[in-house]
Amino acid sequence: MIKLDAVTHAYGERTVLRDITVDLPDHRIGIVGANGSGKSTLVRLLNGLVLPTSGSVTVHGLDTRRDGAQVRRKVGFVFADPDAQIVMPTVAEDVAFSLRRQRMDKAEATARVAGVLRRFGLEGHADHPAHLLSGGQKQLLALASVLVTEPQVLVCDEPTTLLDLRNARQVTGLISSLPQQIVLVTHHLHLLEGWPRVLVIDEGTIVADGPANDVLPYYVSLMSSPAATDAPPPR
Ligand SMILES: Nc1ncnc2c1ncn2[C@@H]1O[C@H](COP(=O)(O)OP(=O)(O)OP(=O)(O)O)[C@@H](O)[C@H]1O
Ligand SMILES: [Mg+2]
Repeated sequence: MIKLDAVTHAYGERTVLRDITVDLPDHRIGIVGANGSGKSTLVRLLNGLVLPTSGSVTVHGLDTRRDGAQVRRKVGFVFADPDAQIVMPTVAEDVAFSLRRQRMDKAEATARVAGVLRRFGLEGHADHPAHLLSGGQKQLLALASVLVTEPQVLVCDEPTTLLDLRNARQVTGLISSLPQQIVLVTHHLHLLEGWPRVLVIDEGTIVADGPANDVLPYYVSLMSSPAATDAPPPR
């Protein structure tokens, strides 16, 4: 269970998240909101990439401030831009790099890497330079490099934003098939259709929280007409 308790976050003088208290036990959680509303800041709190200025964030009882390293082992993070995440020259080396801190013998690590590459359809590219992969393959590699460590929670911050439709579908299909708890930030609202829990963030607070079917129409109205913000949000 992820818990935010009275979380406020400021970058210097600028407060971008205000007094957020929310429990997030759901298996699938979508996050939507306007540019600059605070979505990335919110999800970066979940693995301690960003610490709350006040309040606390806990993941499975671990506090991100106190137990950062343990939290980061539990919570994998995928960004919009896979180039920012790929660190090693070849595909297999990049996945193996994620395992460097785990006590694992070489044979086991090699088997784990091969298994993940197979699952992501990248086995034929194991020894290829990572920078020569297509955008979609790079995002699959970034996902593989995160999932090889078997995190319990996966946070994806706009994982399909830079991808064309075919690659976006492939990456989304893969993400939705994962057994892990997923927290997905996206501007592609159709990806969240049918999701049991979607949060709408606006100016640093949660303004709607509920099933996608209730919340997404509210978000669309919020974005379409300033007058619509007078309507009570679904809760
Ligand atoms: N490292 C930082 N230093 C200072 N201000 C920041 C920093 N990161 C984000 N901000 C500011 O905080 C606010 C919220 O940013 P955030 O990235 O969380 O928004 P977002 O909802 O993810 O937006 P987008 O949809 O564009 O990704 C923005 O006004 C942004 O300019
Ligand atoms: Mg963002």
